[in-house]
Amino acid sequence: MKRLGVNIDHIATIRNARGEFHPDPLYAAKYVMNNGADSITIHLREDRRHIKDLDAKRICILKNIPVNLEISTNNEIVKTALRIKPSFVCIVPENRKEVTTEGGLDLIRNKKRINQIIKKFKNKKIRTSLFINPSIKDIKISKQLNTDCIEIHTGYLSNLVKSKKKYLNELNKIKKCARLANKLGIEVHAGHGLDYKTTKILSKINEIKEFNIGHFLIGESIFFGLPKVIKKFKKIVNR
Ligand code: PXP
Repeated sequence: MKRLGVNIDHIATIRNARGEFHPDPLYAAKYVMNNGADSITIHLREDRRHIKDLDAKRICILKNIPVNLEISTNNEIVKTALRIKPSFVCIVPENRKEVTTEGGLDLIRNKKRINQIIKKFKNKKIRTSLFINPSIKDIKISKQLNTDCIEIHTGYLSNLVKSKKKYLNELNKIKKCARLANKLGIEVHAGHGLDYKTTKILSKINEIKEFNIGHFLIGESIFFGLPKVIKKFKKIVNR
């Protein structure tokens, strides 16, 4: 069975828009798990634009919820992650001005630093993953770095599919990378920009064991939830 990890960062984005407590990412984590997700993902960004330290702490303390914490290579973030001990970490590149994670890690440039970070998490028995572009070179470096998993950045493929452009080249790159990583004993995950169509396309790649999906899934849930909530309010205002 392939696993579905649900990224709940944007629950925090909505909560932060009012600076109050609703909707609560901790409640979302429990709710998501009670409704069939296999794990939850949160990204503790350096600018704390959505998930805050307290959210990450409260969520990681729940030992029955597998939490995939996305972190940059920033020293302070790594220290925080080691302290709050998530089940898994996924190391991602981070750029202050980006709207979302724009590409995979530059493994060549950051090899030494990533190597040190992986060792620190392995010492604490925390599963490690590297968010990388679909490149054979990066799969080979990932093997040298001894990571447990890689997550292939599917954003470029998603953009091609959504804008109805030719995407087979990109899909083949992902397939080849997934096969090589699997052969080398690295577990393969995929994520970024995924919607129903792109997930369906990628679900045919047997080597991909886990999908991490956020923005579209949360956006879509608003539409699925609106009818119930509107009905509830109609009842309340007409009491
Ligand atoms: N995987 C990683 C490593 C990410 O950084 C993100 C975005 O935070 C996702 C998956 C989820 O992407 P999206 O929100 O586009 O589904």
